[in-house]
Amino acid sequence: MCGIVGYAGERDCTEVLLDALSKLEYRGYDSAGIAVMEQGKIAVEKAKGELKNLRKKIDETHKPDGHCGIGHTRWATHGEPSDINSHPHGNKRISIVHNGIIENYKDIKQFLIGKGYTFDSETDTETVAKLLDYHYEGDPVAAIIKTLKEIRGAYALGILFRDFPDTIYAVRKDSPLIIGVGEEENFIASDVPAILKYTRKYYLLEKNEIATIKADRVAFCDIHGQQIKKEIQVSNLDMDAAEKGGYEHFMLKEIHEQPNAVKTTIAPRIVNGMPDLSECGLTIEALKKYRKLFIVACGTAMHAGMVGKYVIERLARTEVTVDIASEFRYRNPIVTSEDLVIVISQSGETADTKAALHLAHEKGAKVLAIVNVKGSSIARESDMVIYTHAGPEISVASTKAFSVQMAVMYLLAFEMAYAKGHMDKDECERLTKELQNIPALIEETMKCEKQCKYVASKLVTAQSLLYIGRGLDYTLSMEGSLKLKEISYIHSESYAAGELKHGTISLVTDDMPVISVATQSDLLEKMVSNIVEVKSRGAFTITVCKEGTEFSEGIMDEVIEIPQMEDVLMPMIAVIPLQLVAYYTTVLKGLNVDKPRNLAKSVTVE
Ligand code: M6R
Repeated sequence: MCGIVGYAGERDCTEVLLDALSKLEYRGYDSAGIAVMEQGKIAVEKAKGELKNLRKKIDETHKPDGHCGIGHTRWATHGEPSDINSHPHGNKRISIVHNGIIENYKDIKQFLIGKGYTFDSETDTETVAKLLDYHYEGDPVAAIIKTLKEIRGAYALGILFRDFPDTIYAVRKDSPLIIGVGEEENFIASDVPAILKYTRKYYLLEKNEIATIKADRVAFCDIHGQQIKKEIQVSNLDMDAAEKGGYEHFMLKEIHEQPNAVKTTIAPRIVNGMPDLSECGLTIEALKKYRKLFIVACGTAMHAGMVGKYVIERLARTEVTVDIASEFRYRNPIVTSEDLVIVISQSGETADTKAALHLAHEKGAKVLAIVNVKGSSIARESDMVIYTHAGPEISVASTKAFSVQMAVMYLLAFEMAYAKGHMDKDECERLTKELQNIPALIEETMKCEKQCKYVASKLVTAQSLLYIGRGLDYTLSMEGSLKLKEISYIHSESYAAGELKHGTISLVTDDMPVISVATQSDLLEKMVSNIVEVKSRGAFTITVCKEGTEFSEGIMDEVIEIPQMEDVLMPMIAVIPLQLVAYYTTVLKGLNVDKPRNLAKSVTVE
């Protein structure tokens, strides 16, 4: 989604803005732009496409020369990706960059047209810029306050006023924004990696707080103009973690980081051999009392929730409903104060998941967040938080975040099963120990990388694929299918293997490869029957199964064997070949692995 940066200080502002924007590229975008105060004027440069297009345009035409400015990477919502629709927007007096969506922009636009304003772009953002201009009578903060009272929707804004050439103004509601604090220089950014090269210190801007940023000071006030004091935060983000570290793509690096990510996530939550989530208030006593669990998330995080459902219901005998966040909020779910709502999110900023959290609160339920990004909105607004320790996930395709989210689901299932008396201490300790072995087993599973590359070579020309599985393997086929389609652009669908014959099998021909996940011993025979069914319709069959699984001759074209492990924990390792196959298929197709078209890392609009 859109990325905002801003700089006030002695350095070459254009260079700082371009560098900071490059650190936000992972969020996904389709155009970029900057506005820099240059000799009393606002110099604006923007270009459709990648940041390098903007760099080229600047190098070939005009490089704004100044020390205070704002920058933006845009992920199109209102209006196609184009030079005109790119941010910043405004006029000679005001320039703004915006992340979010202004819901009532059409009414505001009509009003402003009535006042004689004209519009160049199709964006909602331009209406905010012109509304600010309309309210501006020499006092920027007063104009911002008046504007905030009239706009509806989600936003983070960075604003320049020509009359105040050394100052950036910033405000946010639902979209995140931080203020970086340096020595005689200050910054604004949507996310910490953008400023990490310059400073680790930052302020977290809260809802409707307005920041006034100059090179030597930062001041804050609320929507009534009252000054506020804020505490500086210090980021401990590892700079190298946001670099590729010798790997060709972030996705591959992040796949390989999974053993360590899982280890770091589970280690602090295992005490004396038993799972212990009391850090966030999930004590044995607390776990006993929940009637029902709702897990709400989007995309890959939702798939981790699906794994959680199967495992919690199987072990803890507690009912779990999994919802796609964008559906949960509109189906009037029957959630009560006796239930626990669990929201899962890597970024902690996903708009639909955040809205689900708010709905759960309205219904009186407590919310537990499983989140990767520290201090993110979802983490701050939930009643309890379990941070996953995956480190920054840069590639749009989520991999290591999925594994750590699943790991937390296992800890929760084990502890809940024990709390509710469905598992004795010995069994709980045994399963917890098995979970501790997972990092080593993931490492071993990586040995299938070469074979996954070979399998990928068989898939590059495919138009469409099926992923099938039963039980826990079905949840994984959903994740495998999403991973492949989002980065390789090959259509794929996941199906519960038993459901195929109720319609979908009519699609199967020798043009339709089928990837089966068959790791669950009690379902293996049934899975084999389903694989035979697709094989007899000509499908090229690829099967992920436990080492040593025996199949009759001729039904498997490719078998990817992974280490043996307790059935219930198999998803933790079975996901590895699925991620690697998606990765190598995309590499072989020569596509942009880390930044697939149309997608954003952090989906901050509904
Ligand atoms: O940041 P979140 O975990 O809330 O993001 C949820 C989804 O947008 C995300 O998992 C998405 O599906 C990924 N691109 C999948 O790889």
